[in-house]
Amino acid sequence: GNKNVQAKLVLLGDMGTGKTSLVLRFVKGQFFEYQESTIGAAFFTQVLSLNEATIKFDIWDTAGQERYHSLAPMYYRGAAAAVVVYDITSMDSFVRAKKWVQELQRQGNPNLIMFLAANKADLEEKRKVAVEEGEQYASDNGLVFLETSAKSAQNVNELFYEIAKRLAKA
Ligand code: GTP
Repeated sequence: GNKNVQAKLVLLGDMGTGKTSLVLRFVKGQFFEYQESTIGAAFFTQVLSLNEATIKFDIWDTAGQERYHSLAPMYYRGAAAAVVVYDITSMDSFVRAKKWVQELQRQGNPNLIMFLAANKADLEEKRKVAVEEGEQYASDNGLVFLETSAKSAQNVNELFYEIAKRLAKA
């Protein structure tokens, strides 16, 4: 029969990488050029129906500003899946993403399904992080890698569908 899965999903990554924008694109189909920086964290829900299961996502969109770092464990604790986001136009954000992955590997749920989203893929002319760099890091660390754009919607539904499919199997 069809199973129902409720799953906590957390987004982590440097400020301004597009975490809120990815969630708003997925949940509401919207994008804002001037998206305000998140304070603390924001909570969203969305239901995705697959053939094999219905997934109800409880999504925690964390604030990327460093002053909120100490709050992060509250949001990734108990999470079934995590999306670590960087901005392809910022090498610093890629370095920060790797730090998040290390923190999750050390302190996250051992069965955590981890995704690496290389966001702002629409800004190809400003790219600082090569696709291959992201891919290589992801495969070395057992992460699912996708280049996304909250602006153009590239790979955004695919990202959440892929998470849902893995949660349905878990
Ligand atoms: P914090 O809440 O500070 O952690 O930021 P965030 O990671 O949630 O980023 P947010 O979604 O607020 O986006 C930051 C800025 O980047 C906003 O001005 C967005 O419009 C822009 N942005 C987000 N995603 C994309 C994208 O895929 N392409 C482009 N060109 N801009 C984007």
